[in-house]
Amino acid sequence: MSSVQPTSIDPEMTADEAERELSPVAAFSPEERAAVYRAIYERRDVRNEFLDTVVPQDVLRRILDAAHHAPSVGLMQPWNFIVVRDSAKRVAVHAAFERAAAAEEQIMPADRRAHYRSLKLQGILRAPLNICVTCDRSRRGATGLGRTQQPDTDLLSTACAVQNLWLAARAEGIGMGWVSILRDADLREILNIPPEIAIVAYLCAGYVDQSYLRPELEVRRWATRLPLDELLFEDDWGRKPDTP
Ligand SMILES: Cc1cc2nc3c(=O)[nH]c(=O)nc-3n(C[C@H](O)[C@H](O)[C@H](O)COP(=O)(O)O)c2cc1C
Repeated sequence: MSSVQPTSIDPEMTADEAERELSPVAAFSPEERAAVYRAIYERRDVRNEFLDTVVPQDVLRRILDAAHHAPSVGLMQPWNFIVVRDSAKRVAVHAAFERAAAAEEQIMPADRRAHYRSLKLQGILRAPLNICVTCDRSRRGATGLGRTQQPDTDLLSTACAVQNLWLAARAEGIGMGWVSILRDADLREILNIPPEIAIVAYLCAGYVDQSYLRPELEVRRWATRLPLDELLFEDDWGRKPDTP
């Protein structure tokens, strides 16, 4: 049973009433547009460059509210945000990361293990803020608008919230890193997350004064960004557009 119940809504609204709520829309000004694209291109997964500076409560609230304005299937808003401040819990999460990373290293091809080990893949203890983002899969009932054929859209909605959080954080000068090298059961136990709640993301965040211009995994020669044109099809799977 979901802990957050939907508010009751009068379903009698007419189409006219809805249309009265429409307001004009235009493209952003060039400067506004540049700021949006800057946030997108300069957002990085940050693991190591966190400063000790405390993130003020109003700034934290702003970026969490940006996350809360993400799109969600059927306006389900299935997310919760657990801000993890307790140092004992963070030490426990870090230990869980160490165990999970050791296990992941073992399943890497032998010639990549040393490279894997050399990568910094989390900032759990270094970042002043840790945030766990969860998905309450029954918040609006077992099924709901948009989830009948695609039940995982609640998880996808929660990932949209994470992306909003990440972009808003970048705009505030806050770096953020996503740590998925964690066993679900470990996080669940440390943060007392009930079995019916899905864990979507464990994030480390804090102010930064330097950052990479391209993905750190690219800088450290683990992987490279694929060319967009290789990923772009038209009309049929695998069919390249005549003009990109
Ligand atoms: C779902 C998800 C899980 C991720 N898990 C980790 C992780 O466990 N450790 C890590 O260092 N980076 C993790 N990342 C960050 C990616 O490595 C990073 O986004 C990618 O290399 C591109 O770099 P950029 O985000 O700086 O553009 C994760 C990203 C996503 C979207």
